[in-house]
Amino acid sequence: MDLVVQDTPEAVAECAAQHVASRVLALPSAHLGLATGATPRGVYQRLTNAHQRGMLPLSEVRYFMLDEYVGIDTKEPTSFQNVLRRELLSPVGAEPHSLEILDGNAADLSAEADRFEEALRSSGGIDLQILGIGTNGHIGFNEPGSSFTSRTRMVELHEETVQSNSRYFDSPEVVPRKALSQGLATIFEARSILLLATGDSKARAISSMVEGPTSPSNPASILQRHPDVTVIMDAAAASRLRSAQSAISKVSA
Ligand code: PGA
Repeated sequence: MDLVVQDTPEAVAECAAQHVASRVLALPSAHLGLATGATPRGVYQRLTNAHQRGMLPLSEVRYFMLDEYVGIDTKEPTSFQNVLRRELLSPVGAEPHSLEILDGNAADLSAEADRFEEALRSSGGIDLQILGIGTNGHIGFNEPGSSFTSRTRMVELHEETVQSNSRYFDSPEVVPRKALSQGLATIFEARSILLLATGDSKARAISSMVEGPTSPSNPASILQRHPDVTVIMDAAAASRLRSAQSAISKVSA
């Protein structure tokens, strides 16, 4: 696992955008897995800016959703599909079908999860999966207790996640309690993973992911076993890492 510590969230976004851009420049038809949430927003802004300045061709890229709420209309601003189209795909002029969606309004959510898995498999898989991390260590919406062999499926969100997500909704009653999420085994199959974390609320989850035991009670810890993971975080998110000092020296080297 490569640990990169930057001073600020803006520097994390800049560094992460460069990481993504370098992969896309090396492989213009890359398959990118896209996380939603607050953390990757600055990355998508920078990718959009680079594209609009003519420095980053994105027309051949294919995108895959990481997760989606169940039961939120895609016209709602909180729908993850809506967020991704608004913040990245529309500004870069991506074709609507270049995003492989997870349809949280499908009549049969289990069939939708299977369809997504099949689309992923037949596409050849994800080259670079962008991830955030929950305060409880979830990746995607794989909450503590999720099996390391889990595939894309409907999941129940833990109370901590519902509380955290409530900042995006007008009232607590309308915060979704279910979602579709790529499974841990699905995420693990991505050839390369970029995980982003900012703020001290993520410090505990980051130290458990990097230095804790690998266990389904700590879902992100599965990434310790992956051969190509880069974690870009700010100093606050890295503050509980015993290895933070060596990570910091690695960045400044
Ligand atoms: P955040 O969410 O980027 O909004 O903090 C991350 C996550 O819950 O995976």
